[in-house]
Amino acid sequence: MFYDARSNDHGLPHDPMKALIVPRPVGWISSLDEGGRVNLAPYSFFNAVGERPYIVVIGSTGWKHTAGNLAATGEFVCNLATYDLRDAVNRSSAPVPAGVDEMALAGLTPAASRLVKPPRVGESPVALECKVLEVKRLVDLEGTETASTLLLGQVVGVHIDEGLIVDGLVDITRARPISRLGYMDYAVIDEVFQMRRPQS
Ligand SMILES: Cc1cc2nc3c(=O)[nH]c(=O)nc-3n(C[C@H](O)[C@H](O)[C@H](O)COP(=O)(O)O)c2cc1C
Repeated sequence: MFYDARSNDHGLPHDPMKALIVPRPVGWISSLDEGGRVNLAPYSFFNAVGERPYIVVIGSTGWKHTAGNLAATGEFVCNLATYDLRDAVNRSSAPVPAGVDEMALAGLTPAASRLVKPPRVGESPVALECKVLEVKRLVDLEGTETASTLLLGQVVGVHIDEGLIVDGLVDITRARPISRLGYMDYAVIDEVFQMRRPQS
């Protein structure tokens, strides 16, 4: 099948697009509002887009609390969403009013960050402390403003649970991160394989 993504006339009962760009890592973003109140929410339009320095991207569909906090305070933490924490990840996505602390709502423990003010999720084995580089409202091909906002941040601090490190390498299967697929589907990383890049 083929369909024109601009008219989105796929003819299927559900939009297939999010089932096609997979797996998407889940950035579990903690931030503070201007009053210092904690916010936590999962974002699967999330990835690393640069290194030296490491730069992460978050895509917000609509102007949500995370986007507002990042624009206002310039700091956030990306916590690793793991299989063990999946229910808390899901609970933290509840559409609650501004100022409601989803970290508390999900029964999680705030742990102090080192270089930024927002706390990290104490139960998560990996946390990236970040400072905002850019908040960009996206426009489409016609120049019309879309509902999407791109948030770029530079990683300034990295927390790794020592239990993940085996012979100097991170064994990510010990953390079992979850990733987002389409519909209600998720995947869990608990099996990996290796390939070496060609030399020429
Ligand atoms: C696994 C998962 C991934 C999500 N990814 C996104 C995303 O990439 N962009 C987005 O705008 N909302 C996403 N959401 C929905 C937000 O988490 C939800 O709207 C949340 O209430 C936003 O919180 P905030 O207003 O505190 O930022 C996702 C939800 C879940 C459960």
